[in-house]
Amino acid sequence: MEGLESKSEVLVRADGKPRTKRKKNVQEDATSVIGPPPLRNTTGGDPPPVQEPIAIRDSVFPPDWIVPDGFYVEPDAIRTDEDVFVASPAFFVVASTSDEHNRNYGRMLTWRNSNGDWQEWVMDMPLLDGGMKELRAELLRAGLNIGYSGQEKKALREYILSSKPIRHITSTTRTGWREDSFVLPGLVIGSDAGNIRFAGMDSHFGLAKRGDIKSWKQIVGSMSAKNSRLVFAISAAFGSPCLKILNAESGGFHFRGRTSVGKTTALLAGASVIGGPESLRSWRTTANGLETIAEAHNDLPLMLDEIGQCEPRQVGEIAYLLANGQGKTRMDADANAQKRYRWQVLFLSSGEEKLSRYLERANVVVRGGQEVRLLDIEADAGQGYGILDDVKGFESSGEFIDAFQHAAKSNYGAVGLAFLERLTTDVDAARLFIQIRVQQFVSAHVPATSPGEVGRAASRFALVAAAGELASHYGLTGWLPGEATSAAAVLFGGWMASRGDHGFDLERRLELVREFVRENLSRFASGKPRSMPDGCAGLIVKDRGDELYLILPSVWREEVCKRDHPVEVIRSVKEAGFLVSDAGRVDKRHRVGSLNPYFYAIRASILETPGDKIGPGIAENAANAENTAA
Ligand SMILES: Nc1ncnc2c1ncn2[C@@H]1O[C@H](COP(=O)(O)OP(=O)(O)OP(=O)(O)O)[C@@H](O)[C@H]1O
Ligand SMILES: [Mg+2]
Repeated sequence: MEGLESKSEVLVRADGKPRTKRKKNVQEDATSVIGPPPLRNTTGGDPPPVQEPIAIRDSVFPPDWIVPDGFYVEPDAIRTDEDVFVASPAFFVVASTSDEHNRNYGRMLTWRNSNGDWQEWVMDMPLLDGGMKELRAELLRAGLNIGYSGQEKKALREYILSSKPIRHITSTTRTGWREDSFVLPGLVIGSDAGNIRFAGMDSHFGLAKRGDIKSWKQIVGSMSAKNSRLVFAISAAFGSPCLKILNAESGGFHFRGRTSVGKTTALLAGASVIGGPESLRSWRTTANGLETIAEAHNDLPLMLDEIGQCEPRQVGEIAYLLANGQGKTRMDADANAQKRYRWQVLFLSSGEEKLSRYLERANVVVRGGQEVRLLDIEADAGQGYGILDDVKGFESSGEFIDAFQHAAKSNYGAVGLAFLERLTTDVDAARLFIQIRVQQFVSAHVPATSPGEVGRAASRFALVAAAGELASHYGLTGWLPGEATSAAAVLFGGWMASRGDHGFDLERRLELVREFVRENLSRFASGKPRSMPDGCAGLIVKDRGDELYLILPSVWREEVCKRDHPVEVIRSVKEAGFLVSDAGRVDKRHRVGSLNPYFYAIRASILETPGDKIGPGIAENAANAENTAA
């Protein structure tokens, strides 16, 4: 600690008296320190140039921290000049705080805990109000002893209020990106680390860490390699902080499959990146209950295990809510709008059945795009090993899974933090890295004729692939370049194929049209009417050997598509090859008497297609995706 001697001479109290009243164990060097370390990037690396601690004999204080009048401070306690006890060990009020909107003022307190580590806490000013019950409870919980006589409580309040920190920092209750820095509970990473603090008392996201990068790479990283589902889940965890960098939408992936196939294990793999096994959440919640959890996972991965535990009616709402990135605006008792929760998150989910099955069970109409918000992944890799592609010399897949679970529960957190360190160091380079790979993935795997939802889904798979590649590029995974991309390509191919097999939104929409035509055959006029009869749904006409149902746009909107988006339905009909339209349009003119109105023209062959089979277009798409993935 160079230069400490000279600085110590200027350390006096505001009233000009010496800073400490009683001196015990006076040491000439500064080996026994009681003051806080400088505000710094707590994950290591160089501290930002904020403040250096200054030694005065047996103490180290922040340079701009002045003992308030009427108090004296020693390593083991703060007391008033009249010897009224305030707290033990000594804590320092090192900064005033306020949030991004210059509200919610507070103070940052720092002290050395019983392990000898420096600990800090952002205290809300209103906690000083009244009997200070909450403040006192929080200090006690943090391991500080405080007095509880009236005099001691008064001294505690006065000590905090009369400490006049020179520094001011921003406090936030949001985790995730704040400009180029990343805020986590108890840890800020990035260039602004010295000037921001997380101020939540309790967070739904715990910053857990066990093992180091090397051990994670050697065990979790190497076991997951060549196991597409595990690589993908890990890459998705790296992907969540990348959403903001790309301004990409929130959304999830749902590992769907029979019991004991390894679904929860995949979620554990993701959680080993950051958060750890304790961060796995249950679907057993409500949309309202999930809002605070989602916000606590802003820019972080969120793992939701076992969709079957959720009330079917809530499932769709939750999928929608999470992907939409914001909760409902709530009113307080006086009908004032209260805080609205916001987040950007990539979430992983698990369960035995796909999202739409739960929605159907609850008689909920699947809203357009609901399933694209939670993309279905077949958990079984189809190799006879459940979720695994490769058991890597283990006797059985069960043994591999058990060993992997143990590894993921013993090594977590370090790679995620290292990833954020690298990401915050050069966001622009990371953005470029990801952007290039997302574009490459999409152009390699998405057929040009695909509808919008395929592109949307592909972009999410692509972002996961790119984030996994970025982590490998940073040297964190031990995977070969291309590993994360191959995993994502295999899963995207599977998604496309299952979309084809099971029908997804497209088949459901075709069924809407079939149902309407079949039930309203008598409302289609044939021949060449001079005008449209009342209650008519449209015309049935011949078209080069084909029969076409011409549906009036108003009927299309109000009747055919009353449970879905008219534009999405027409898009699906077109994609499946049943739409006939004028050049450059989705509708078609047809003369009726003296008028030439537009209709939606649907090939009658739509009625012949069995409900569980898909039109030609999508099957081609799925096959293309599989080929490119292979
Ligand atoms: N791929 C696998 N091969 C063999 N056994 C497995 C496999 N995956 C999981 N298991 C067995 O199932 C147990 C639970 O694993 P996990 O929780 O990942 O399965 P899951 O698919 O989530 O099951 P559930 O549907 O019950 O939630 C493991 O401890 C293991 O014994
Ligand atoms: Mg499970």
